[in-house]
Amino acid sequence: MTGTASTARPAEVTASDSPFPMELWSEAVCSRRAIPDTLASGAPAPGTTDPDQDPLPAGPRLPLAPPPLRLPPAPGSPAGLADPAVLAALLHYSYGLLQHDPTPGGRPLHRAVASARCRYPSELTLVTPEAAYRFDALHHQLVGLDGSSAARRPPAPGSSAFLVITSRFARTARLYGDYAPRLCAQEAGMLLGAVHLVAAALGLRARPGADLGTLLGLCADWLPGTGEHPMAYVELGSESRSVGGPATPRADEPAWLPPDLASVLRARHSGAAIFDPDPVPAPAQLLPDLGAALADAPFDDFSCHLLVGRVTGTEPGHHVHNGGRTRLVYDGDPLPLLEQIGQTEGRVSVNFRATACTAYIAVRRGEAVAKYGADAFRRLHLTAGAVAHRICVVAARHGLCARVHNGYDAARAAHLLGLSPDEETVLFQVALGTARPSASFRVPVVF
Ligand SMILES: Cc1cc2nc3c(=O)[nH]c(=O)nc-3n(C[C@H](O)[C@H](O)[C@H](O)COP(=O)(O)O)c2cc1C
Repeated sequence: MTGTASTARPAEVTASDSPFPMELWSEAVCSRRAIPDTLASGAPAPGTTDPDQDPLPAGPRLPLAPPPLRLPPAPGSPAGLADPAVLAALLHYSYGLLQHDPTPGGRPLHRAVASARCRYPSELTLVTPEAAYRFDALHHQLVGLDGSSAARRPPAPGSSAFLVITSRFARTARLYGDYAPRLCAQEAGMLLGAVHLVAAALGLRARPGADLGTLLGLCADWLPGTGEHPMAYVELGSESRSVGGPATPRADEPAWLPPDLASVLRARHSGAAIFDPDPVPAPAQLLPDLGAALADAPFDDFSCHLLVGRVTGTEPGHHVHNGGRTRLVYDGDPLPLLEQIGQTEGRVSVNFRATACTAYIAVRRGEAVAKYGADAFRRLHLTAGAVAHRICVVAARHGLCARVHNGYDAARAAHLLGLSPDEETVLFQVALGTARPSASFRVPVVF
């Protein structure tokens, strides 16, 4: 089967193939008109209840090794993908099932990456030169997608491999109707960021990719004919190397990475249903760590506006991260700005009076549309999503919850944050704060 970029079939791509028509920019980014009324009741959007839209993978199943409780697992341990513990850790901490919330009426299953109302439309597929394997997070297994005996073989030592991200829009559309492509694009980006981050913590060489021709080539032999959209891939290096323990960080290990990423990811949390955190200052180290995590992001074609309210040792103000550096652009309480930008249909979306800091991730839409046409939507959401996930992880490292919240006015954000008119667009609003004690609780899931 076709499995690597080198063997990938060249793919002819035209703008009309895009699952992201140009109208999405105004319908799904700049307005919330596309969200159906059914969302309020949690009922499925009309015409979206067909169970055949979302079949479970049916191929041969490969149990994965138990994921190590720490990341990296141990000082000096081998880090190649052929090591079953490394493969298990990569999949589990990128997109595995990490928490169970048994509260009646709650959302029971929580994975390593945030997902709007826990629909988890993204799929993660390991593609090797021999076969493709779908990650089944619920059972912590791989499922061979081509049904051949080759699908029973794990990646061979030294072979190249890709983790390919696809998205089943229908899963999210059941609640969100035509707004689903926007959420699915955001979530694919967050998953891309997650895979890249966990691979780095495991000492793997990982290169995130968005090239559409390579992506379609990687998906050529196993993607279902309908219902699943190719989104992105991460190329994983064939070489293995030793990873350092917390006492001896590798020379290229980002300084902001927590010494035990696994425990941070297990604690990652989007906060309670209404985001109304405790109004206490966040630790002083939050801002340097955010700056370092943004500077080390896998893409650099974004800017991040940090509206700081309550962080120890930092006056309230508006900071901008751009081109690897963070600078203060406005000294003063950002609350009026936040309450004008962060609105859902005239109502303030989260309690900005109690948040520590809110991040707005902006991209150069004009430039990207001129270069990529309709595919700019997918590409820019990959960049912004990868950055958004990093922000969530930094928040978790400091004991904070981070809420991706799409209740913001993109046009007002562009104006009030001083973005270039008709060029830059905000794709993510992420509010950070200290969680209050809550009636619900989450049990860690251990495989
Ligand atoms: C792309 C995206 C958009 C989201 N939009 C909203 C939103 O508009 N309002 C909201 O309250 N939560 C929103 N969320 C938060 C999710 O509902 C939350 O991540 C989910 O409940 C999972 O919780 P967890 O991250 O703690 O596991 C969004 C999450 C994502 C990933």
